[in-house]
Amino acid sequence: MKILVVGPGAREHALVWSLHRDPAVTEIHALPGNPGIAALATLHSGDANDGAAVAALATELGVDLVVVGPEAPLVAGVADAVRAAGIACFGPSREAAMLEGSKAFAKDVMAAAGVPTAGARVCTNATELAQALDEFGAPHVVKDDGLAAGKGVVVTHERAEAMAHGEAIFAAGGHLVVEEFLDGPEVSLFCICDGETVVPLSPAQDFKRAYDGDKGLNTGGMGAYSPLPWAPADLTTDVVERIAQPTIDQMRTRGTPFSGVLYCGLALTSAGVKVIEFNARFGDPETQSVLARLQTPLAGVLHAAAEGRLAELPPLTWSEGAAVTVVIASHNYPGTPRTGDPLTGIEEAEQREGVHVLHAGTALNGEGQLVSSGGRVVSVVGQGASIEQARMRAYEGVECIDLADSHHRTDIARAAVKEA
Ligand code: AMP
Ligand code: GLY
Repeated sequence: MKILVVGPGAREHALVWSLHRDPAVTEIHALPGNPGIAALATLHSGDANDGAAVAALATELGVDLVVVGPEAPLVAGVADAVRAAGIACFGPSREAAMLEGSKAFAKDVMAAAGVPTAGARVCTNATELAQALDEFGAPHVVKDDGLAAGKGVVVTHERAEAMAHGEAIFAAGGHLVVEEFLDGPEVSLFCICDGETVVPLSPAQDFKRAYDGDKGLNTGGMGAYSPLPWAPADLTTDVVERIAQPTIDQMRTRGTPFSGVLYCGLALTSAGVKVIEFNARFGDPETQSVLARLQTPLAGVLHAAAEGRLAELPPLTWSEGAAVTVVIASHNYPGTPRTGDPLTGIEEAEQREGVHVLHAGTALNGEGQLVSSGGRVVSVVGQGASIEQARMRAYEGVECIDLADSHHRTDIARAAVKEA
């Protein structure tokens, strides 16, 4: 099978890493990919958000399947353009990707499907915002109603901070959603869907805040691990029955079937599991941990989803062990990151047992030297028989890597080791 993977980051590197190990895969292409992906796939330049360009490249290469990683090309309709060219595509249509593209739309679908989620009010001006903040009380949750790469949300006890975030969104011409605060641990569960059938992957937990102890600003994600020893045994079945399947059924009823990954961002509250958000793609960095543990060859699963054959798929198989991912971030991330710093030590890290490194914000400079080019620079993945071993290996890998003034969290999966 020949495959084209669309996207630039560590999630796409994780997809390529898994696809590369699938014996059915003969050729992998990436648009645009990154220097890490280049070791496993042929890179192509071009605009990943331009459906016509992606479809033309896929046609020219004669690929059997296109896998779209990030939300931006999905919301721009890239999957529609690829399918219109007669090529199988893993990723939802533009309309179905609105489950991620608009929080207000997602809330509407959840209400219609009876899916448990935080109460919410859509606000278009400061008066509505003030009313909604009073209605739900502190802690306040204020979300930009558009794509914000996980950074458009402010959760705060300070009413003034909530108002300021809202007013900045209005000033930029946007609108927002104020939500009831959901207490309890967060879980990410990725469900592979083909419009009808739902196949859940293994649950993971992401660490969203920039610094240890969940301090600092929200980021795209600073680390993740899987599986979750502390989660209820029936968590996955419960989420499929009460959340993913009703959502997929509702999307089909609306004439916009959802095919791709339904990313269920969940809070395990005292009143049961509730949805924090849906995304229409694999999560980053959870995917790096989840796919490391998937034993079923990935291409067959993604191809079956793209062709509506998930019901025929045998149950997925998983490694017994664990995977822990630690993100190394540039100086000043999640603010405007400093870029262009030399990055060394990846080979040493990968020589260690159970460690591999996935590139996100890396580039080759004029001298062919690997340098940082974004906020989240690499994901270091440790695999082991237990969370403790996987975590130790991930951090040993992190120690090998040198990037001036970079930062990473030191507490990824630490609490889970105690609970395992
Ligand atoms: P989102 O972009 O919706 O995923 O939100 C980013 C992060 O903000 C989530 O992972 C949560 O940590 C936090 N968050 C979002 N919505 C809520 C909520 N209703 N209650 C509590 N925390 C939330
Ligand atoms: N890990 C959070 C996200 O992918 O949105």
